[in-house]
Amino acid sequence: MKVIVLGSAAGGGFPQWNCNCPNCDGIRKGTIQAKARTQSSIAVSDNGTDWVLINASPDILAQIKATPALQPGRKLRDTAIVAVMLMDAQIDHVTGLLMLREGKPIPLYCTASVWEDLSTGLPLTKVLSHYCGVDRQELLVDTNNAHTVQVPGVTNISFTALPLKSKAPPYSPRRNAPGPGDNVGLLIENTVNGKKLFYAPGLGEIEPHIMNAMREADCVLVDGTLWTDDEMIRLGLSKKTSADMGHLPQSGPGGMIEILDALESPRKILIHINNSNPILNENSDEAAMLARHDIEIAFDGMEINL
Ligand code: MLT
Ligand code: MN
Ligand code: ZN
Repeated sequence: MKVIVLGSAAGGGFPQWNCNCPNCDGIRKGTIQAKARTQSSIAVSDNGTDWVLINASPDILAQIKATPALQPGRKLRDTAIVAVMLMDAQIDHVTGLLMLREGKPIPLYCTASVWEDLSTGLPLTKVLSHYCGVDRQELLVDTNNAHTVQVPGVTNISFTALPLKSKAPPYSPRRNAPGPGDNVGLLIENTVNGKKLFYAPGLGEIEPHIMNAMREADCVLVDGTLWTDDEMIRLGLSKKTSADMGHLPQSGPGGMIEILDALESPRKILIHINNSNPILNENSDEAAMLARHDIEIAFDGMEINL
């Protein structure tokens, strides 16, 4: 099973268009060592020809251009993207759907809650019905019973969505009344060798079933949004804490580093990294601390084979 990180940044990307925080300003001026990153998305395939796009970021066109495997050029109109699967209804994970409008109806795997948000607060499915349309495929979520799906046309991979605590988007009626299905994590299994990836770009709280999924995985690719809870506030960028946005920060007691330290076997990688996060500066103490804990930082174009 091949996994390509198409985009490793959180909403806004890195550098963010209007931001002059130390990281964004530093990468523009070349005064820090850092890699530019597009917004959060991965692609998964068994044969390298047929891919499931997981999250459709606003940067999808640039991501496809940077990833030749996604455009095999077999006929006049073509794509290697067989289906799209969504982890939530946030702008950085869904608005790329609009850029796929010239194609065939998009097989779209998402939960009932995400479908509702995409039919009301951010009605992309209605807009797309005037273009390619979407072929709705429901992702069922249940803490106690795993619902596993296979995507027709994509062999030897199964997908299990797990409900988790993060945040529905600000335009969702459930922003302050969360329910299962607003946000999910995915256990993605190579059904030939049993190897598993756990993917959760938004993860606010580690519930027992999530810890179990992370233990089961050979690789975890998880929320790396912010280093500290009050990072955006301290930098004067926003009034929101990491918790307000549904993201578990890396540092401090109960933070992601501590959680990942408790896992023995999997390869550990952070994704969905906000432009304010000091780990983006490759020479920072924070990046060095992650390295000491055997935690990697995803970058655009990173490939994971499982
Ligand atoms: C989030 O992950 O919290 C959102 O994507 C933030 C945003 O895009 O504004
Ligand atoms: Mn996001
Ligand atoms: Zn910034």
